[in-house]
Amino acid sequence: MIRVGVLISGEGTNLQAIIDKAKGWEVVLVISNRQEAGGLARAKRHNIPTFVVKQSDFPSREAFDHELIRLLDEARVDLVALAGFMRVLGQKFVAHFRGRIMNIHPALLPAFAGTDAIEKAFRYGTKVTGVTVHFVDEGVDTGPIVLQQAIPVEEEETLESLAEKIHQVEHKLYPEAIRLYAEGRLRTVGRKVKMKEPNL
Ligand code: GRF
Repeated sequence: MIRVGVLISGEGTNLQAIIDKAKGWEVVLVISNRQEAGGLARAKRHNIPTFVVKQSDFPSREAFDHELIRLLDEARVDLVALAGFMRVLGQKFVAHFRGRIMNIHPALLPAFAGTDAIEKAFRYGTKVTGVTVHFVDEGVDTGPIVLQQAIPVEEEETLESLAEKIHQVEHKLYPEAIRLYAEGRLRTVGRKVKMKEPNL
């Protein structure tokens, strides 16, 4: 059983999927950088300890990152899952948890990195978009890719219908990636994440 810490800023529907589909892991704490994040209530409903850590309460980015590291270490997390966490983490944070931080992105990376990816892909007119789960490195959405799933953009698609399809895939793909990690089946070689067969 591995210990997962989840970082959120918003609704926390991915957090919910990670809680609901836990198999081989336990969500041991949830940290939000926004007091109003809906995901905090979801965590509380499951009796998971929650913390609000706001950048504005700290003198520097480093001090903010340091507090996140302290809380995650105290909870002895094996994996940090970013689930709609709207802040880029500093170098020290990434170095501290290297290979142990995952993120979910609502597009097929490296296309449409950064914020508002669903809308950017839709407005661009791509015929295919999708979802990516990746390990986090120092860049923005640039780390080694764990899983991706493509989603077609239909003729009649609206931004709302596309967002809905993407979220549904996210809620399946993120728990799947965490399961592979929890089973010790992921090995990163350079930019490539290799997947081992399960031990039967
Ligand atoms: C998701 O679309 C995720 O891909 C992106 O932020 C959104 C978070 O949604 N990084 P939620 O808070 O999990 O509902």
